[in-house]
Amino acid sequence: MRDGCRRRLNKATVHHRVHANYDVTGTGRGTRRFLYEEWACLNLINCWIRDGETKRTMTTITIEQAGKYDGQEVTIQGWLYNLRESGKLLFPIFRDGTGVIQGVVSLKENPEAFAALKGLTQESSVIVTGNIRAEQRAPGGYEMGVTAINVLQKVSEDTPYPIQLKDHGVDFLLDQRHLWIRTPRQAAILRIRAEAIRAAREFMDGQGYTLTDAPMFTPAACEGTSTLFEVNYIDDQKAYLTQSGQLYAEAIAMALGKVYTFGPTFRAEKSKTRRHLTEFWMLEPEAAFVEFEEAMSLAEGLVSAIVQGVVKNKKRELETLKRDTSKLENVKPPFPRISYEEAVAVLNKNGNPAKFGDDFGGDEETIVSSSFDRPVLIHHYPTAIKAFYMQPDAQRPELALAFDMIAPEGYGEIIGGSQRIHDYDLLVKRLKEHNLPQEAFQWYLDLRRFGSAPHSGFGLGLERTVAWICGTEHIREVIPFPRMIYRVYP
Ligand code: 4AD
Ligand code: MG
Repeated sequence: MRDGCRRRLNKATVHHRVHANYDVTGTGRGTRRFLYEEWACLNLINCWIRDGETKRTMTTITIEQAGKYDGQEVTIQGWLYNLRESGKLLFPIFRDGTGVIQGVVSLKENPEAFAALKGLTQESSVIVTGNIRAEQRAPGGYEMGVTAINVLQKVSEDTPYPIQLKDHGVDFLLDQRHLWIRTPRQAAILRIRAEAIRAAREFMDGQGYTLTDAPMFTPAACEGTSTLFEVNYIDDQKAYLTQSGQLYAEAIAMALGKVYTFGPTFRAEKSKTRRHLTEFWMLEPEAAFVEFEEAMSLAEGLVSAIVQGVVKNKKRELETLKRDTSKLENVKPPFPRISYEEAVAVLNKNGNPAKFGDDFGGDEETIVSSSFDRPVLIHHYPTAIKAFYMQPDAQRPELALAFDMIAPEGYGEIIGGSQRIHDYDLLVKRLKEHNLPQEAFQWYLDLRRFGSAPHSGFGLGLERTVAWICGTEHIREVIPFPRMIYRVYP
């Protein structure tokens, strides 16, 4: 890499820039804007030149690795998160996306670094070199005795960083979402989201399911017509943004056996609740020759794999969120299962007037789930309140082989699934009952014309699952850029 850099930058340039890079006097002379890559190369050369004969390169680490470098001099690349000044000492806090670390800079020992850092504005980008040492009182357990600092871009005092380390209103923060995600809490949530996805895919792959993809533009509804986003497709054709990849996953399951899709889905949800987004991500398994019970077991296994993955691999992030993990540790199969009719009885016992045929809303879900320490599966919903494609129970056709998984702690439905109708005539009948256009579903009916087989699947809402794991108040915090009823900016 070093040779590559040298080839790209002639010697004079390197000298000039290297000099500028390390000549940090606090006057701003050390501040240069480089292309990141160019700069990364320079950083290596810097260390190499500085160390002269030894040709040792300074180790650049991430803050989460600090504990492994106790007693060593290292370099961290990140941003100034906060700065406390106390006479001849400065206590900057740096963040780099993997964590935060407190630095200490003394005027006496490091006048240059002191001058560069004094008065430095929040979120200025910096490269900091210093010695890592254990410090029980510091957040994270380590601090850095700063020896050199290079300010890449100083945030102007005229346009200070808009998010201060104080409470802001959520509307303000959502307007600043592109910056808000920099705060350690938001970064922790996004890392947990990533782990949830990783663990989910690992589990599904391990169960022999093949990852596949459904289209985003669709000719028809999957989950009822009331929440469809219509799109002006080419030459006045009408299309809709997909509400669920399921129907396509069914086709692919008949081709590959066991599959799952994972992608964004869209619903014109006019509800302004803490559980609704207009764009959210869903993981949707679909499997040929798999029936209702087996689909429920798969759902249990999936959710517990996600939760245990996060508990195991994202400890620090859960700590940042002050999440009580004891509640998450319990989330292992088997999950409790109750029928819809039993759930109605539980509701009535708790003073809720629900009766057979009612759909459950958030309040009902919270009452039912509150008696369990892990997610609960409610199954056998009335056919009349569920989607057109759900297989009726053979003994009691007024009930569908449908299930929802309700998360604990009031987070509501995280999974909806069912066995699918595999009989051609019954499916045609249902399409008519639901006033759905048969032409748009011809391809879907083909799946019942050509080698139909029982099959089942479900959809796991990623944001609701992650919101529950993180314990966030609203699901808008668990997606980088939430889309909601009145928000498509930034
Ligand atoms: O229960 P739903 O509507 O089921 C389906 O879409 C099926 N076609 C899935 C399938 O069987 N393949 O949605 C599934 C899950 C819900 O349980 C919930 O977690 C999430 O998607 N969800 C939402 N998440 C955020 N915002 C919304 N507006 C959501 N609507 C559904
Ligand atoms: Mg549902």
